[in-house]
Amino acid sequence: MEILKLESVSYTYRNKYQTVHAVNNVTTAFETGKVYAIVGKSGSGKTTLLSMLAGLDLPTEGAVFYQGKATSKMELDRYRREDVSVIYQSYNLFPLLTVEENVMYPAQLLGVSAKNARQTAEEMLVKVGLQKGQFKRFPSMLSGGEQQRVAIARTLATHPKIILADEPTGNLDVDNGDNVVDILIGLAHELDYCVIIVTHDNVLASKADVKRCMSDGHLSEESD
Ligand SMILES: Nc1ncnc2c1ncn2[C@@H]1O[C@H](COP(=O)(O)OP(=O)(O)OP(=O)(O)O)[C@@H](O)[C@H]1O
Ligand SMILES: [Mg+2]
Repeated sequence: MEILKLESVSYTYRNKYQTVHAVNNVTTAFETGKVYAIVGKSGSGKTTLLSMLAGLDLPTEGAVFYQGKATSKMELDRYRREDVSVIYQSYNLFPLLTVEENVMYPAQLLGVSAKNARQTAEEMLVKVGLQKGQFKRFPSMLSGGEQQRVAIARTLATHPKIILADEPTGNLDVDNGDNVVDILIGLAHELDYCVIIVTHDNVLASKADVKRCMSDGHLSEESD
C-alpha cells in the first residue's frame, strides 16, 4: 500500500550569502511492507529528503503526501509524534534515563500510563533482542549495537507506520550493523512498516527491497 508520495519535491537552503538546491524535483512513492535504501555521496541531499519525510521541514516546492494528504496541510507535530519515527546514527538516547525509561518516554508523551508504557517497552525491547537484565541500565552501559536496538525499540513503542533511519549502522561494526538491518527488514516484512534507510553502505543497501540513489539532489532507481 502506498503511504508516502512525493510530487516534484525540491528543497532550497537560502541565506544572505548563498542558495543551495539540496533536493531537486523529486517525484517518487513509498509503500508499506517494504524496506527502501537511499544511497548517495555526502552532500547529495539524503538527510534533507529525510527531514521532509519526517515532517521536520516542508518542501520549498512541490509536496509530500502522507496517506494522500499533503504534509503542508497537516498538523506536523502530531504527524511526527504518531505516524513517523526517526533513528539516527548517534542513537540519541537520553543518557540519564534507563533503557526502559528511554523506550517508555515517547508513549508517555502521548498520554499512555506508566504501567502500559512499561509493558510495551518491555515487549519492544525483547523484540529487538535485549535481555531483561539490561532494561534498568543506563545507555552508556550498553554496546553501540545494543544502544541502537534500544533506539529502534523506542521508535516502535508509539506504533508509527513509517520508520526513517539516517545512517543507522554508521557507528556499528559489520555484525551489529547487519543485525540492526535485519531487525528493520523484519519489521517491514512481518509488521508492514514502511522503512526508509539512508546509508553509505552498499552491502546493507543491497539487502533492501528497493534501492534508490541520490545524486546532486536528484533521486533515481538503481538497477543493480
Ligand atoms: N542548514 C543548511 N544550510 C545550508 N546548506 C545546507 C544546510 N544543510 C545542508 N546543506 C547543504 O545541502 C546539501 C545536502 O545536504 P544533506 O545534509 O542533505 O546531504 P547528505 O546527502 O545527507 O550528506 P551526508 O551523506 O554527508 O550526510 C549539501 O550541499 C549541504 O551542504
Ligand atoms: Mg546526511
